[in-house]
Amino acid sequence: MDTVLSGIRSTGRLHLGNYFGALRNFIKMQHDARCFFFIADYHSLTTHPDPKMLHDNVRGVLSEYLAAGLDPSVATIYVQSDVPTVAELSMLLSMHAPVGELERTASFKDKIRKHPDNVNAGLLTYPVLMAADILQHRADKVPVGKDQEQHLEMTRVYARRFNSFYGVEYFKEPTAYNFGTELVKVPGLDGSGKMGKSEGNGLYLSDPDEEIRKKVMRAVSDSGPTREGEPMTEPVANLFTLLRLVSSPDTVAFFTHAYNSCSIRYGDLKKQLAEDIVAVVAPIRQKIEQIRNDDGFLHRVTSEGAERARESSSKTLADVREIMGIKRF
Ligand code: TYM
Repeated sequence: MDTVLSGIRSTGRLHLGNYFGALRNFIKMQHDARCFFFIADYHSLTTHPDPKMLHDNVRGVLSEYLAAGLDPSVATIYVQSDVPTVAELSMLLSMHAPVGELERTASFKDKIRKHPDNVNAGLLTYPVLMAADILQHRADKVPVGKDQEQHLEMTRVYARRFNSFYGVEYFKEPTAYNFGTELVKVPGLDGSGKMGKSEGNGLYLSDPDEEIRKKVMRAVSDSGPTREGEPMTEPVANLFTLLRLVSSPDTVAFFTHAYNSCSIRYGDLKKQLAEDIVAVVAPIRQKIEQIRNDDGFLHRVTSEGAERARESSSKTLADVREIMGIKRF
């Protein structure tokens, strides 16, 4: 049976990028694999969140996970900091992580460009902690969006390097995974790039229906095709990417034909897109508040999850210590 693991930082609310990039894949697989899903609160500390808000952020993300369909009776759901053995594993793995390699990571370069005033060591070693998250449970598959591909490649490098340095076949090489297709990059509504927490271009699982309609109607498009077969501009291609994620194949075919024959009305496309997004989001949103306020349930889920995750992590850490030659007197 495959081991599947995925995680998310505990910053902000979940958006459609998180849902279609990682969460939905995981939910589809949770009944057929040994599954771990966790909230990366250590990772979120790189951006110095207000300590008063940290726990509430974890609560928010956890509630949204559960509302979206993660099932604690089959998946191990835990908070990263409840399993501190991951920090020791990360430290041990960092001994085989050359600094030059870490400095060349795309996410690190992006962060120092955007926040030159906060280039901390946690940011630099972010991929090592992420590798430890994955390797501690010896995961085979990691459902993630396209933006995490490089981190997964680095995890494979660390696994391979460890095995070859110590002459063992201990770590498996996990793959970035999307159920049945390529990794996805969910675009934002601003015409370029990807949907993200900090970009202000997101549709959230907690957004009310009217908010979703408003945001979609305001999405950037263009003045429309003027000749048959005209390639789509990026903003319009983005709208079609969203349409393919939420709408039926018939709807996608209808608007594709309308585009190709230059008869498309973006207002109609957006109306349909908004309704199809509402149909995905509304049932999730309705459950979020109820779960968020159920302290007993959240306590039970995270305590049981942490216990199972600690067991799996401690076993790996003990093996790794032994392989590296750490012994007790
Ligand atoms: P984070 O919190 O940025 O995002 C969580 C998941 O959502 C995916 N995602 C997207 N997918 C497609 N299109 C988008 N626009 C989009 N935006 C976000 C991300 O790819 C990710 O799968 N480093 C991770 C958290 C993490 C982790 C791990 C993940 C820590 N340790 C171990 C997997 C395994 C992160 O920052 O994700």
